Amino acid sequence: MTNQKTAALAGRTYFIRTFGCQMNESDSEHMAGALVQAGARPADSPESCDILLVNTCAVREKSEEKLYSYLGRLAALKKKKPGLVIGVAGCVAELRRAELFGRKPGPDFLVGPDRYEDLARIVAQTSRVRSLETGRDSLWHEFGPETVVRENPVSGYVTIMEGCDNFCAYCVVPFSRGREKYRPPPNIVREVEDLARRGYLEVQLLGQNVNSYRDPKTGTSFAALLRTVGAVDGPSWLRFITSHPKNFSDDIIDAMAASPKVCRELHLPLQSGSSAVLERMNRGYSRDHYIGLVRRLRRALPGLSLSTDIIVGFPGETEEDHRATLDVLREIRFANIFSFRYSPRPQTAAARLADDVPAEVKARRLVEVQALQKSIQLEFHRSFIGRTLTVLVLGSSKKDARLLAGRSEGRQVVNFVPAVATLGRFAQVRITSAGPYSLRGEEVRPA
Ligand code: 5AD
Ligand code: SF4
Repeated sequence: MTNQKTAALAGRTYFIRTFGCQMNESDSEHMAGALVQAGARPADSPESCDILLVNTCAVREKSEEKLYSYLGRLAALKKKKPGLVIGVAGCVAELRRAELFGRKPGPDFLVGPDRYEDLARIVAQTSRVRSLETGRDSLWHEFGPETVVRENPVSGYVTIMEGCDNFCAYCVVPFSRGREKYRPPPNIVREVEDLARRGYLEVQLLGQNVNSYRDPKTGTSFAALLRTVGAVDGPSWLRFITSHPKNFSDDIIDAMAASPKVCRELHLPLQSGSSAVLERMNRGYSRDHYIGLVRRLRRALPGLSLSTDIIVGFPGETEEDHRATLDVLREIRFANIFSFRYSPRPQTAAARLADDVPAEVKARRLVEVQALQKSIQLEFHRSFIGRTLTVLVLGSSKKDARLLAGRSEGRQVVNFVPAVATLGRFAQVRITSAGPYSLRGEEVRPA
């Protein structure tokens, strides 16, 4: 960074509101870093800042609706504070340029996912003109890991790739984030080493479809990257999100099994349990392929905790298709699921199909999926009672301030009575009770 850049935002304060996935959370940490490098300081609230950045998500209609209601509230704030600079970043900025700039009062600038490295310049020039910096390119944009302003002092995100080439029929991501591009392994390793130096205990590798990662120079695979990162001295736990069942090769399973650091936990989106629906979704695998993959994974990685994403009400989904999804949930018994009603998204292939599952049918199917999963999770969680789990301590419990909260290796939320009242460490916790969404226990006093 040059001195000139460093001074550009001196004396100004920023606040970032993040919607959406872990990728967005991580991007916000990078953007905060770019603003701090330019001299800005963080503010505690939208009311007390002079640069307000909204990092947006377009993956479902609901996420966009949330953004528009938030922007409505910001418009009221701007009336009181005319000097406030409001920027919109992320997927909606990329996809809805005209609509966003057409709003009155609209944002002062838009910045798409491929333009974050220019953020400080964009903010600095925005006091004179409204800026629009979107559009994509095929280059990897490197951020110095030292500049990232991280929200979590224990678990660090490390982006390994950007974009997606899969074009699942319902998904807007290939349009908002563009084609896949891969971060060079030395840059990834440098960031993991930086986290290790800062005492981070967990690293989460991020990408829209990490299994299709390739070294941009040599073409070596995600499995090789996993082995390389697993060998870095420091953080004890290594995770990666998100995986795609179509690209989950046996060498990735082998690399997971070979590394004690790779958590026995995986997010593996299924989307539907009906092969006919999967085909129309352009997912590239069948129900049987998915079940076979889970079988191989569980054989190689005993105790593996699996989570998934489910969409109900995709165009043409019949009752039989829906029952097939419920059947797969019963068969696999996921540790956790994220379930959504299908909503058409701009530019996607499915947006050209009739959205023909009535809203009340989607709602009922969602309730059925969630009720079934709740009972599976409760039973699964009860199986932990009496066992002692290693828990990464992340903060105070939201339910009870006397308790600490953390995550187990399988990503289960654990609230527990501490023996040592500090955060940012591993604790051994004996599980005493369980609900569908979390476990409760007592820390076993270190000998
Ligand atoms: N409608 C509903 N859910 C969607 N998802 C992605 N696009 C849509 C859509 N158009 C869900 C998928 C994906 C998760 C991040 O969001 O389940 O895995
Ligand atoms: Fe979207 Fe499919 Fe790519 Fe995931 S793999 S980001 S669901 S297009």
